[in-house]
Amino acid sequence: MQKKSITLTDNRNGNTYTYPVLEATRGPDVVDFRTLFKDTGLFAYDPGYTSTASCSSAITFIDGAKGELRYRGIPIETLAKEHSYLETCFLLLNERLPNADELQNFDLELRHRAFLHEGLRSLFAAFPDNAHPMATLSAAVTALASFYQEHLDMNNKAEYHEMAHRIIAKMPTIAAFAYRHSLGIPCIQPDIDLSFTENFLTMIRAYPGGKMHLGPHGHETIREVEVRALDTIFTLHADHEQNASTTVVRNVASTGAHPYVAIASGIAALWGRAHGGANESVIAQLEMIGSVENVDAFIKRAKDPDDDFRLMGFGHRVYKNFDPRAQVLKTLQDELKEELGLNSRLMEIAAKIEEIALNDDYFVSRHLYPNIDFYTGIILTALKIPKNMFTPIFVIGRTVGWITQWIEFKKDPESKIARPRQRYIGD
Ligand code: SDX
Repeated sequence: MQKKSITLTDNRNGNTYTYPVLEATRGPDVVDFRTLFKDTGLFAYDPGYTSTASCSSAITFIDGAKGELRYRGIPIETLAKEHSYLETCFLLLNERLPNADELQNFDLELRHRAFLHEGLRSLFAAFPDNAHPMATLSAAVTALASFYQEHLDMNNKAEYHEMAHRIIAKMPTIAAFAYRHSLGIPCIQPDIDLSFTENFLTMIRAYPGGKMHLGPHGHETIREVEVRALDTIFTLHADHEQNASTTVVRNVASTGAHPYVAIASGIAALWGRAHGGANESVIAQLEMIGSVENVDAFIKRAKDPDDDFRLMGFGHRVYKNFDPRAQVLKTLQDELKEELGLNSRLMEIAAKIEEIALNDDYFVSRHLYPNIDFYTGIILTALKIPKNMFTPIFVIGRTVGWITQWIEFKKDPESKIARPRQRYIGD
């Protein structure tokens, strides 16, 4: 059977060039342009990589037209509804869901690894107390590389999985410490008796000594519904193919730098409001809009090409239909509205924005739909998580995706140092 290929004709000299098409198991096939420059003296030009596949990957599949997202082939809706975040972490790292024993061992290992070296704790004191937790988080994860400098044998799965488990386990602690330092209050150490997600909520909300808020009816408790809501949010953020921050992680992996500085670079990239930082901006934007009556004026600004105001939480490079994660969150919001006491005013403003935008030609013609960031903030606010911790929450969920992508890159025989070229337009 004839191999698939495409042929280009250079109309400057009539030459033709044929390039192989490499098949994908799902989604678009790719044309292998690796010899284009050698053959034609031309670079492919694709700022922002709108039509470029940077690698082959078997981790996450997205179909932007259908609004489909799968981790290792399993639909995100199934994982969000039927599995825990820890099961999803195991799935991403091991290409299959864990059995009961494996899940218990994985859970116990992460609990033991959640603690930080005392030397790392003193790093937080170096930061001004109004430092944004994302700055502290990125710096602390970079510093973590100096505590674990041993050589990593990529042929030894136990070794690189230990490296992966360690960063997954410590990220919530580092994020919680960064937050508590920003408040000038003592950090709460992880509690080995608590699950991954309940432990994080405790480290964020507990008073020194680990006790929760004391009210007229005794100490507040962290409710199962809150743990389930946050666990679902972590699962929805776990991985997302070759997004901007994952591309940064892979690029840092390609130079041979320490895996934890690759993760720290991913954190830095995620902070931008065009990417993970959008979740914090969405709530700020809803609060700025303030009432349903003001929505029209802001929609008008979002459509104005001369106004750089954008509707945060709307639009996506890949999803030209609903972001399936946004759908899961919207359902979760409706389910938990009463139980979590979600802010109905912000929900009404969000619903109004969505209603107008989804019927307005400007948004419809550009396929701008709500993305994951449009919905997370209202639930996180109800979990008493402050806005400046929304993107660190994204980091906690995404760490497993970044480290899984790092491992896949390191084991891919096709991997090379990332070194794109340019179209020179200078003197
Ligand atoms: C995440 O990639 C990932 O997978 C990321 C992520 C993940 O899980 O890792 O899904 C997480 O980052 C979600 C996205 C969060 N960001 C935001 O919500 C910020 C607001 N959205 C935009 O800035 C924008 O939509 C992007 C950055 C998300 C996508 O940008 P693209 O694909 O480069 O699209 P574009 O900027 O070329 O926009 C196309 C058109 C433009 O209008 P025209 O020039 O054609 O007239 O749509 C317009 C844009 O002006 N547009 C918007 C808009 N987003 C795009 N107009 C108003 N409001 C918006 N939010």
